[in-house]
Amino acid sequence: MIILGIETSCDETALSIIEIDNLENKPPFSIKILSNKVLSQIELHKQYGGVFPMMAKREHGRNLVPLLKKTLEESGFENLKSQESNSEQIQNDKLEKILDREQELQKLFLEYIPTIEKPPIDLIAVTSGPGLEPALWVGINFAKALSVAWDIPVVATNHMEGHILVSLLKRNEDVESSSYTLNPIPFPSLALLISGGHTEMVLMKDWLHYEIVGKTRDDAIGEAFDKVARILGLPYPGGPEISKLAEQARKSSDLQPITHNIQLPRPMLHTKDLDFSFSGLKTAVLYLVKKLPTPLDEKTKVEIACEFENAVTEVIIKKVKKAIDTYGVQTLILGGGVVANKNIRGAFEKLASEQKISLNLPAIDHATDNALMITIAGYFNKNKSITAKTGLLDLKAEGNLSF
Ligand code: KG4
Ligand code: ZN
Repeated sequence: MIILGIETSCDETALSIIEIDNLENKPPFSIKILSNKVLSQIELHKQYGGVFPMMAKREHGRNLVPLLKKTLEESGFENLKSQESNSEQIQNDKLEKILDREQELQKLFLEYIPTIEKPPIDLIAVTSGPGLEPALWVGINFAKALSVAWDIPVVATNHMEGHILVSLLKRNEDVESSSYTLNPIPFPSLALLISGGHTEMVLMKDWLHYEIVGKTRDDAIGEAFDKVARILGLPYPGGPEISKLAEQARKSSDLQPITHNIQLPRPMLHTKDLDFSFSGLKTAVLYLVKKLPTPLDEKTKVEIACEFENAVTEVIIKKVKKAIDTYGVQTLILGGGVVANKNIRGAFEKLASEQKISLNLPAIDHATDNALMITIAGYFNKNKSITAKTGLLDLKAEGNLSF
């Protein structure tokens, strides 16, 4: 089965094509990544210090067709039509209607798609939520138009489910670099999802059974990283910036003794539940910075970044450990953009080895948003695929989609 994945929930336009050989309903699956492309809009949003939904929408509309061309080329699926078959009319009126709200996408789509042969894609997987609705709609309408033009079914995919499942991919070291296996895992399994919009612990008693057992009461961890970075005068997105500074602090010995004796709170560390709260931590950084001489010197920023990262890490480790004990968890899965953080990865490696449970971390470039994760989630949910005859046109963006 060949699957095309489409991801436009936030500020990354992403497309991926994978091939799955053994068509089982449950792992193990052998997966070959034919193409996996991400076009980040970060440089554009940087000037606003965060993601601007209407600009994200415009950029997705502009980027999807050129990115599809590259993805098809890389997969070896871009075959230009001969002159004669070019005259075959594709259902232009229907396509125009589907893409009516994305004028630029509509134009690029109608210029390109009729010039190529239908690729051997069996299923289109698209993120229907959660995310920014104007951005999600672009991907959904693109999926609908491709589905109608090529007569291929579509499966609506939960972005967070994608973050969980992509973490289970293991690269086959001995074969080509694009071959992966997704193996069976022992249940119950616990997924900690930490991204720009989410911080939640999801219990899985079996494949496709998801139960949220703990979540943030306010800010998501990625959001806290981004806000603290802004307080420190660092560019968006703040996660990687804070992480770089914190790493410097851990490497350099000249930071001892700590100049300002910076100490941040560990919110909800000792509460009995499995919930989190990070907005107080961000406010603590704000008050701290207000008391310090401005502009902040580099050394102070490094210290704050390190202490902030330590506080976040300590809290999530403690809560995950509590969830492991409560539910007898056998497999730990980490997903979401914040899992690109080295300190957090290291802390979970230590925890998993102490607890003697298996740990599944995404490859660093599969941690932040991508469409590979959408193809995988799409494959798991292939039985729910729809066509123009069975409800495709009713498919909607669901900004607050949950498990
Ligand atoms: O999953 P993701 O790419 O998008 C959402 O679905 O939200 O996550 C993006 C978030 C951002 O808040 C970004 O600052 C954070 O992940 N992030 C990091 C790192 N890389 C990205 N946070 C901490 N350390 C990193 N190295
Ligand atoms: Zn994400």
